[in-house]
Amino acid sequence: MAQIFLNDRFLPADQACISPLDRGFVFGDGVYEVIPAYGGRLFRLEEHLRRLTDSLTAIRMTAPFAADRWQQILNELLHRNGGGDQAVYLQITRGVAPRDHLIPAGIPPTIFAMSNPIKPVAEQLRAQGISAVVLDDIRWQYCHIKAITLLPNVLLRQQALELGADEALLMRDGLITEGTACNVFIVKDGQLLTPPKSQWLLPGITRDLILELAQTHDIPHRQCDIASSDLRTADEIWVTSSTREIVAVTRLDNQTVGNGQPSPLYHRMSMIFQDYKQACRDGRAS
Ligand code: PDD
Repeated sequence: MAQIFLNDRFLPADQACISPLDRGFVFGDGVYEVIPAYGGRLFRLEEHLRRLTDSLTAIRMTAPFAADRWQQILNELLHRNGGGDQAVYLQITRGVAPRDHLIPAGIPPTIFAMSNPIKPVAEQLRAQGISAVVLDDIRWQYCHIKAITLLPNVLLRQQALELGADEALLMRDGLITEGTACNVFIVKDGQLLTPPKSQWLLPGITRDLILELAQTHDIPHRQCDIASSDLRTADEIWVTSSTREIVAVTRLDNQTVGNGQPSPLYHRMSMIFQDYKQACRDGRAS
């Protein structure tokens, strides 16, 4: 049985109990992170913890632990679950209190972490890419907070599936924001483009790393608004996240994107990304 961390201890997942009055359960009042670990080493931990603190601050909570304590807990969790390549899911809710919309003062947060083996991105997916549809971004105005309230994302992803697509790319006021659980890049005339950070999208850790790697490897790149028309005339579309890494979108609304195949630039960036992961495994990068 997988071991989880709940509040201040490790225990088997099937022995963990959370109160039905937890505000995470009743109000969706909490935030989360998904942090990959390669070869037992946490990937971009500092960046994930910074975003966690930003999310907590935005919902008027404070980080329950300093970075070194988080590192200790998450390393112990990975170790107890066999090390290797795993994704840590970490969730903090405001805690347990009688149901009242007002934020209660002075209650301890509920802190939960689990880890699961990372399934390698399927070779076929890398080779062929995925299909996507464009849907209206029906979410709220604080999409930069990694909030546990993901009902709109869940409904949009399901709608994409029912339309025969793997992912939905979201459009607000004529501009692309992101996917239901991923950031979006396009390639146009050899330049890699992604929307700038704002309240309309999650500041993805993978997104930032790709921009960083593009800079290091002299790949032209820019953060700018992407209109619906830019998306439809893009040479390539990529989606990125901690769990999917980089995946090419080769069909959009039943039309072929570019030549319908992940491009040489996609394969180049994937290789650079895999090398970076290997460096993390070997302790040469984080
Ligand atoms: N989701 N945008 C949204 C809405 C997301 O939910 C995610 C990640 C991303 C990419 O962020 P990152 O590169 O830091 O993983 C962008 C995670 C993986 C999830 O909810 O499972």
